[in-house]
Amino acid sequence: MESTQDMISSSLQNINLTKQEQQTKIWDDFSTVYDQQVTRMATQPFITLCSQTDTFQCKRILEVACGGGYHSLIVAKTMLQKGGVLVSCDFSSKMMKLTKQKYDDLNWSSGYTDVIGNRYDITTEALLPLGEHSFDLEEEIKKHNQNESDRFVFGCQANNESLPFKDDTFDCYLANLSLMLVDNYKNQLSEAFRVCKKGARLAFTVWGSQNNSNNFGILNMLIEKFKIGPDEKPAKTYYHICQNKDTVRQEMIDMGFSNIKMWFQPMNFPFKNFEEYWATVFTQPPAQVAMAKLDDEGRKQIKLEAEELYNKLLGEGVIDPNCFEVMIIVAEKR
Ligand SMILES: C[S@@+](CC[C@H](N)C(=O)[O-])C[C@H]1O[C@@H](n2cnc3c(N)ncnc32)[C@H](O)[C@@H]1O
Repeated sequence: MESTQDMISSSLQNINLTKQEQQTKIWDDFSTVYDQQVTRMATQPFITLCSQTDTFQCKRILEVACGGGYHSLIVAKTMLQKGGVLVSCDFSSKMMKLTKQKYDDLNWSSGYTDVIGNRYDITTEALLPLGEHSFDLEEEIKKHNQNESDRFVFGCQANNESLPFKDDTFDCYLANLSLMLVDNYKNQLSEAFRVCKKGARLAFTVWGSQNNSNNFGILNMLIEKFKIGPDEKPAKTYYHICQNKDTVRQEMIDMGFSNIKMWFQPMNFPFKNFEEYWATVFTQPPAQVAMAKLDDEGRKQIKLEAEELYNKLLGEGVIDPNCFEVMIIVAEKR
């Protein structure tokens, strides 16, 4: 069996650089819409991750795939202890730009950036070439903090599958809605294990059961009906982690994780009407790619049919909309 160390040292060989570039571009292009329409849906499971990892008691927190920084600010303002450091990173430099803009804008960041002793430094660039893991966070903190009690938020562009940080850097690892997206989730898991200290708690959210996610169910039904899906069915969907949870659990045990828990939970129902649903779900990259295959008339028709399905499955009169389910994974590095 391949040891964790072997997996880690060979992690760059496992990375498909072309796919990474394509994926980064998709998320760069989607960043503004994601930030404006979708991220608010993701806050509830993010809070579950924070409570499971005792984020508010941790000194070195890593939030990967941080999106536009909305949750970073929640942690910075409400959970970060004196002397604590939060690192928020994402492989999309556009997402990191949105994160930086929020910290730079007092309307967003007041409550953190205007408190004496609170500092931040966010770059939209990568710290090291992909595959290098020598970035010393403690050295970086020394450059910014003047007192031991200063708080520090650091942001950078980084890929979950190959993080720039040195081994044993963090005591808390948060990954909200990213493990199911990455090209090779085993790289993300082994990197998470590597950068965490002994005693750290780690938490991930992935998409839950397809049957309990009518929000994407409607989209998928219509993509099938209008025959606008990809020519070749993808080898895996975003449900692949939850569909193979026992395998993933065993792989995590083999990597060295302990006390692994996995459970499904419904997300809060975020839509108050069809227009909100449409603007959130039908603006996401797979939907956009599919809809680009339709002409104006086709787009009008698909929207009408989406509204009918919304009314039937999620709309007024439906008591339990079964809108979106996630699977939570929590674990420890002992
Ligand atoms: C569904 S969004 C979640 C964002 C944020 N965590 C939230 O809860 O709103 C997925 C994020 O993962 C990022 N992402 C996808 N693959 C990644 C990878 N391999 N490394 C780092 N970030 C990645 C995307 O750029 C995007 O910001």
